[in-house]
Amino acid sequence: MKTLIDRLGREHALSRAEWIALLRSRDAETARYLFGKAREARRRYYGDDVYIRGLIEFTNCCRNDCYYCGIRRSNTRASRYRLTEEEILACCREGWAIGYRTFVLQGGEDPAWGPDRIAALVASIKQAFPACAVTLSVGEHDRETYRRWFEAGADRYLLRQETADNAHYRLLHPPELSPENRKRCLWDLKEIGYQVGCGLMAGSPGQGPEQLAEDFLFMRELEPDMVGIGPFVPARHTPFADQPAGSLDLTLFLLGLVRLMLPNVLLPATTALGTVHPRGRELGMLAGANVCMPNLSPPGVRDKYALYDHKLCTGEEAAQNLQSLRERMASIGCRVVVARGDHKPR
Ligand code: 5AD
Repeated sequence: MKTLIDRLGREHALSRAEWIALLRSRDAETARYLFGKAREARRRYYGDDVYIRGLIEFTNCCRNDCYYCGIRRSNTRASRYRLTEEEILACCREGWAIGYRTFVLQGGEDPAWGPDRIAALVASIKQAFPACAVTLSVGEHDRETYRRWFEAGADRYLLRQETADNAHYRLLHPPELSPENRKRCLWDLKEIGYQVGCGLMAGSPGQGPEQLAEDFLFMRELEPDMVGIGPFVPARHTPFADQPAGSLDLTLFLLGLVRLMLPNVLLPATTALGTVHPRGRELGMLAGANVCMPNLSPPGVRDKYALYDHKLCTGEEAAQNLQSLRERMASIGCRVVVARGDHKPR
């Protein structure tokens, strides 16, 4: 399998059958080898710099009903909230003062936050902090809406494909959501000019090497600027509440493979990774990640953005706790930097 990893590092391409073979043969020794190569690739583009993003979870109201997600519309036990424009701007002011230069506005597909309102929000953040980058992560919309937000000043957009395998996509989502529309959104975003992030949950129900192979083939074609990968973690009061969580080892292995396939990609060690292991984020960096997205939402709502159970929302996870993040990253030879942290071209 080392030969496949070497080839991936050189040519950045494998066939479907090779992806399946590589994913099937995952073991501790292959992983160690992969992570070494992945760190080399990361260093070539980003050195040991870790970029930080202030994550603002501004609404947990959502019109969608994804089977895995704790804030799906059918979950009547979720305690719903929306931040106001003023509250969001206050998060940005606080984040800017601490050293954040990217704000990620993430929320459910909330009808109360229509295209105009989001465009105005983006414009006011960019007006207040012209040197910052704004990342949107608010789901599926039509091309015109994406274009308006881009013109309002949004720089980046995160929309995980969740799975590139169409049958698997249908297993994770209700019939009104389609894999075709998901992919259409990603291509539209890219064409409009956003730095685009896609991604998936490691170990989601029904996922095996065959499904993951589709994800790698898709990501190689899309060439995203960012890829978000965290373990699936069951959420109570959802159809997948009793499904097993994705493993730390699988998540790290996928991070390493993405880094080798797309060496200049921006790759976060996600909140979910920090949730399944106390040193999850450090291990993520050692597997090739180079981005951290601490939570900048107001403390009073953090526990309500419950995409899954036991999600980190205090202490180490807080954006305010930058010193402790700096120390953790320093312990593995990485350095948190104050910068927009844009994607570097090949
Ligand atoms: N476990 C892990 N990640 C989840 N997400 C949603 N629900 C869960 C869960 N139960 C992820 C999805 C989505 C992102 C915002 O959060 O991949 O794209």
